[in-house]
Order: sequence, then structure tokens, then C-alpha cells
Amino acid sequence: MNTTENHNNTNEIYENIWKCLDKGVNDRFSDYHTFSLATAPKNIVEVRTVVLRGYDRKNQSIIFHTNNLTSKISEIKNNPNVGALFYDKKEKIQIRCNGDAVINNMDEYCKERWNKMSAQSQECYYQNISPGENIEYPEIVKNKLENKLSENFTVITININKIDWLYLSSKGHTRVKFLKNNGFTGQWIAP
Ligand SMILES: Cc1cc2nc3c(=O)[nH]c(=O)nc-3n(C[C@H](O)[C@H](O)[C@H](O)COP(=O)(O)O)c2cc1C
Repeated sequence: MNTTENHNNTNEIYENIWKCLDKGVNDRFSDYHTFSLATAPKNIVEVRTVVLRGYDRKNQSIIFHTNNLTSKISEIKNNPNVGALFYDKKEKIQIRCNGDAVINNMDEYCKERWNKMSAQSQECYYQNISPGENIEYPEIVKNKLENKLSENFTVITININKIDWLYLSSKGHTRVKFLKNNGFTGQWIAP
């Protein structure tokens, strides 16, 4: 499916962005299934890959799952302003989102999402050694699933306040920005 058919109309581009994100959630082979998450605590920038687990078109947010003991959690607490970068190689489309990250832990929302996960996915949140800790050798790390919501399971919601959409074409690149404080109305910008 070509999710980005019309590149001449900013309203259609905006609709297509959400179609692409929908594909990312539901199709693990889609380029939108993962994104690069940038955090900027103090003067350092950190970037890593995460899986897109959901989106809310009405509230302009995206979500991913993580372990509450990972560095990104303290980085988000230090500075909730994060970047989410998607790149569709085949369609030559880049989507850059900026937003405020909200940490959900041990609440009803987490419970609801936890109950939809496979045992294999749940097991990752029962690791005996915290992510990022120095270890003597890899085999020392073990996971043993318990029959309850892990307190390490965390859902991060990114409330988007800016989307920068870029399409690369030999006929001329096109770029649009969508700002929350402008009701996400598209504005063409120079590529
Ligand atoms: C394809 C891929 C998908 C990943 N998905 C996630 C994810 O959804 N959540 C997550 O916390 N880490 C995910 N990771 C691992 C992170 O990239 C990162 O190594 C880990 O979360 C530790 O990051 P931090 O120390 O910066 O917090 C993924 C890595 C890869 C390569």
C-alpha cells in the first residue's frame, strides 16, 4: 500500500502521516514500526531505536514501551522534551516529531497494555540485572516471568507539539511543518 499518494495537499499529507503511523503499529515490516527516540538531558543528546506501540490521532500522541530502569527514564524526567524520527526508505519520506514525554507506570493504562502482551514480551521486564549495568559476561542476565504486572513495565506517551514532514524527490523536495499551537494546520516550508 502506498500510504503517501498525494504530496501536493497539506491536509492529505497530515492524514497520511497518521496512516503511516497506523501501519507502523500494525505491520512489523513497515519502516514506521520503529523510530529513533532522542532525549536531551542537560548538555548531552542520546538517541536509540524503540518500537511504535500505539498512537492517538485525536490527541496527537504516540506511545512506546520501555523498562523503567533504563537511562531514558531519568533523561525524560530531566527533560521531557523529546524527538521521534521516522524514515520510510522506499517512499523517501522523513517524519520528525517533537513532543513532551509522559511516563506511565503501574497504572490502569499500563495494566491494560500489559494484559495484551505475549508472555515472551512480558518476560523481558523481569530481568535480574538492570539495563545498562556492567556485567562480567552476557549469560549472567536472566528473565523469569512472574504472574503479575512488572513494576519495570512503563509506557511512554509522547504528546506531539510539532511534526516536520519531508519528501525527497528528483522533481524537487517538499517539506511541511505542522504545529500544535497552529492546530496542526500544514505550512509549506523550504526543504
Ligand atoms: C529494533 C529495536 C527495537 C527496540 N525497541 C525498544 C523499545 O521499544 N523500547 C525500549 O526501551 N528499547 C528498545 N530497544 C533498545 C533501545 O534501542 C536501547 O538500547 C535500550 O532501550 C536502552 O536505551 P537507554 O539506555 O538509552 O534508555 C530497541 C532496539 C532495537 C535495535
